[in-house]
Amino acid sequence: MNLETAKERINELSKQIERHNYNYYILAQPTISDFDFDLLMNELLTLEKQYPELIMSNSPSQRVGGDLTKTFQSFPHTFPMLSLSNSYNKSEITDFIDRAQRIIGEDITTVCELKFDGVAISLKYENGELIRALTRGDGMQGDDVTTNVRTIRSIPLKLHGDFPQSFEIRGEILMPRNSFNTINAEREAAEQQLFANPRNAVAGTIKLQDSKIVAQRKLDCFLYYLMIDENKNPFKTHYESLEAAKKWGFKISEHIAICKDTNAIFEYINDWEVKRKNLPYDTDGIVIKINDFEQQKTLGFTAKSPRWAIAYKFKAEEVQTKLLSIDFQVGRLGTITPVANLEPVQLAGTIVKRATLHNADFIQQLDLHYGDTVNVEKGGEIIPKITAVNLSFREKNSKEVHFVAFCPACRTKLVRTEGEAAWYCPNFESCPPQVKGRIEHFISRKAMNIESLGEGRIEVLYDNNLIRNYADLYDLTYEKLLGLEKIISVDTPLDLFGTERVKKISFQDKTSSNIIEAIRQSKNTPFERVLFALGIRFVGETVAKILAKHFGNIDAIDKATIEELVEVNEIGEKIASSVRLFFENNENQVLIERLRKAGLQFESTQQETTKESPITGKNIVVSGTFEHFSRDEIKLLIENLGGKNVGSISSKTDYVVAGENMGPAKNEKANKLNVPILTETEFLELIGYKSNK
Ligand code: IVH
Repeated sequence: MNLETAKERINELSKQIERHNYNYYILAQPTISDFDFDLLMNELLTLEKQYPELIMSNSPSQRVGGDLTKTFQSFPHTFPMLSLSNSYNKSEITDFIDRAQRIIGEDITTVCELKFDGVAISLKYENGELIRALTRGDGMQGDDVTTNVRTIRSIPLKLHGDFPQSFEIRGEILMPRNSFNTINAEREAAEQQLFANPRNAVAGTIKLQDSKIVAQRKLDCFLYYLMIDENKNPFKTHYESLEAAKKWGFKISEHIAICKDTNAIFEYINDWEVKRKNLPYDTDGIVIKINDFEQQKTLGFTAKSPRWAIAYKFKAEEVQTKLLSIDFQVGRLGTITPVANLEPVQLAGTIVKRATLHNADFIQQLDLHYGDTVNVEKGGEIIPKITAVNLSFREKNSKEVHFVAFCPACRTKLVRTEGEAAWYCPNFESCPPQVKGRIEHFISRKAMNIESLGEGRIEVLYDNNLIRNYADLYDLTYEKLLGLEKIISVDTPLDLFGTERVKKISFQDKTSSNIIEAIRQSKNTPFERVLFALGIRFVGETVAKILAKHFGNIDAIDKATIEELVEVNEIGEKIASSVRLFFENNENQVLIERLRKAGLQFESTQQETTKESPITGKNIVVSGTFEHFSRDEIKLLIENLGGKNVGSISSKTDYVVAGENMGPAKNEKANKLNVPILTETEFLELIGYKSNK
């Protein structure tokens, strides 16, 4: 076979395989046996191996996975990925419809759909080929997960029929409940941490680096919204657009209904409130959308959600069970969380043995007694909640639950800050769960990512007096680790499944050298993650990124006053004081010095910033009020795209983004200094942000 005939055969095979994929995964009507399908796939794989230059990014062979994504690059969304406003009762739906009707001034028709409980995805197609899949991210930009998405069999890599040349389509990636149960059973057997629910499993899977594992996880995807440039949109209604998308090869839910009035909507809700339990995947509500695109346009958007759609959330499932005992757990920041141990009970597809009780006030409000029969609810959250006590089952002389007064780990008297619900153990320096918790946070994946030290190893090192803080990690040596061992319980504090599992942790030759190597490599972790790893209260991943970007290095943050900190977009008083408190503590200064000596990154490097944008490095003043975004959102957009927000206009200013009622003085100054003044629309055009339908 020569290159030309190989190419033809590869094309032919690809077409056939994709057609069978479509028949199987979308139509659920296979026309070929698994064996014959495998023959076709094997032939394709063999040919592609022989002629690697002929492998196309959308070849069906990519569905098997194999490519690794080292870091998920972030890209701006062409249209922002918004959320939906939620409603919990029918009168809110009536209000929504009435309001829409009032604004539009004519009859409206709605479409009711299931609200899938998975992870949102935005797919971009050009000339009928999938070219990019982005996660929601912060709604403005998302992560490129295309390689992983290509492994999802129900997502077409190539379209058929009369599709538009360029468009985006949004949908939800799901993990069917039976795949979820299988994966968790496998994880349990392998003593791996279980996924709490299918949504979490999807979120974890879609960000895996190894697409081969993604391919095995049996994800599925329903598409629910087509987005095309307004002037190129051939469809009059949302319903029509989904019908068309179905013809191009997308998986569109069969349970979509056109509803002409609120009664029809309520009927749909009542129907699915019951029937959803029989679906093979999780749903958490109903989405009601105005069908007509023109009407959608008239209604427009708020900063967060479209005014042409609303979600109705299903009531959380609830069961009754008995309260057996309460654990008071100490978090890495000293917060005491009461956790109820319950008589195991089946709830929303999982067995629940524990539930959070939040804090002392919550226990008091419930008037909780030991042995009480309680209602347990599992909403969208991972951790079940106790919602009420059933007093008719309370036993005589049952003991009231009192919050502990002393730390269950170190016996220090607990304290409570005025106005806060939580009790803290103030023994920050030596309370063991706090010390271990800080180190565990430091090594966690999103921080220093020293995963080989996870799963109970920190505890062993702590017990052997080898570590008392995260700087101690950098003094560890192979010799100190080799031979350590301990049998530990591998139950996580809020493991809903509550299965008691024990595991022997031992530091053998390979483990020990891997750990030392991982610690050495962690020295290359970028500054923003080191900052997050330090465990400053209220400095999560995002805040750490913002601070690292704004100040550039640790000394600048250390020196920044509260006033300077709050000047930074998104940094409020609470975060600012916490940052100050951290740096004013002498012990923390000693730790930072030790980490610096060990060679950790305390300075931002150029490469960390996201890819070049038209405003990278530009000084921009934002002033006035805007139509589509709030001022803070515009500023965030600038920061995310590598621009710099500056307070006042000077000769160094590159642009002024002017909203309504920007003061005349500013206008005059900008003109005098020849600084271009952009309207909101001009600014959005500059950054390549297209307006929505
Ligand atoms: S439409 C502009 N339809 O719910 C908003 N969303 O809080 C377009 N979702 O992030 C969303 N099923 O991931 C829409 N049938 C459906 C949906 C759906 C699930 C998710 C979506 C979004 C969230 C909204």
